[in-house]
Amino acid sequence: MNPPNLTPQQRERILRAATSAPSKHNTQPWWFRWDGDDLEVHADVARALPFGDPEMREVHIACGAAAFAARLGYASLGTGTDVALLPDDADPHLMVRLSVTDAVPDVRFETLYWSLPSRRTTRAPFRGTPVPPQVVGELCEAAADEQAALRLVASEAADYGQLLDLVREAADLEVWQMSRRAVDAATPATSAETPSAVPAEPGQTAAAAERPPLIATLATPTDTPRDWLVAGLALQRVLVTGVRYGATASFTARPFVPAPPSVELPADGSDGGVVQVVLRCGVGRVLPATPRRDLADVLTPSGSGAGPAGRCATSR
Ligand SMILES: Cc1cc2nc3c(=O)[nH]c(=O)nc-3n(C[C@H](O)[C@H](O)[C@H](O)COP(=O)(O)O)c2cc1C
Repeated sequence: MNPPNLTPQQRERILRAATSAPSKHNTQPWWFRWDGDDLEVHADVARALPFGDPEMREVHIACGAAAFAARLGYASLGTGTDVALLPDDADPHLMVRLSVTDAVPDVRFETLYWSLPSRRTTRAPFRGTPVPPQVVGELCEAAADEQAALRLVASEAADYGQLLDLVREAADLEVWQMSRRAVDAATPATSAETPSAVPAEPGQTAAAAERPPLIATLATPTDTPRDWLVAGLALQRVLVTGVRYGATASFTARPFVPAPPSVELPADGSDGGVVQVVLRCGVGRVLPATPRRDLADVLTPSGSGAGPAGRCATSR
C-alpha cells in the first residue's frame, strides 16, 4: 500500500461525489473505506430492502453508480483510477475497489464531475424539446464505455407505451414509498414529485401534456452481481453525460427478462443481453436536490456502532 497522499478536503470531494449517486428510495445503501488513497465501496446491508430487493440487485446498481461518481471525484483532482468489481471472493459485500494509478484520467471525466451536482431523477413531465440525436449518440457511447448497451425504443414501437407506463408507474410507487419513509423518519422527501403531480411549465397540469419522451433500455451481457454493478456504473455515466447537455431522466431498475421485443438487437447476433434499467429521458425543470447522509456516517456500515473515533479512521 502506498502512503496516503490525498488531503482530507480531497477525500471529502471524492466522497461527496460518490454519495450524490442515485439509489432506490434514496436509501444510499453504501459505505466506504479508505485503503491508503484507494477507495472501497461496500454494500450497506442494513440499508438494503429485504422484501423489495432480496438479492440486493438494486443495491449493486446503486453502489456501481456511486463508484463511477467517485471516479469522477478522483479525476477532478487529476488522479486516474482502476476499477475492480467484486474484488474479494470472501466478501461479496465489497462491491468495488478504486485503485489510484499513474495513468491520466479519461479527459471527459473532469467535465462530467462538474455535472454531478445537477443530476436529478426527474419524474415531472418534460418540455417538448427532444433530446438531440448527437446527445443520444453520446449517451449510447457512455453506456458502451462501461461495457453496457443503451438502446432506444422507437415511439412507434409496439411496447413503447408499455415501457413508458412502467417507468411512470414506478415513479408513482417510488414517490409514495419515499413519502412513507419520510413520514416515518420525519425528513423531507424533496424529490417526491410525480409526473401527474408536477406541471412541466406554469399552466400545465398533467402528465398528458408530455410529448412522447425518449425511452431507452440499459442492458448488460448477463445477469450476475457483476453485471448489476456494470449497470450502475453505466447508468451513472449515462445520466451525468445527459446532464451536460441539459437532458435528465427518470428510470426504473426492476428486473426485465426477457428484453422487450421492440428493442433493436445487436448486429453481432448476440441476444441483446439482459435489460437492467428502463429510462425515460428528456429536457425538464431543474428540481431541488434530494438529501444525503452526513459523510461521517458513510465511513462505517449502518448499525456498526462505530463512534466518531472509529469514523475518523479513514486510512490504515
Ligand atoms: C437501483 C435504483 C432503482 C431506482 N428505482 C426507481 C424507480 O423505480 N422509480 C423512480 O422513480 N426512481 C427510481 N430510482 C431513483 C431514486 O428514487 C433516486 O435516485 C433517489 O430518490 C435520489 O434522488 P436523485 O436521483 O434525484 O438524487 C432508482 C434508483 C436506483 C439507483
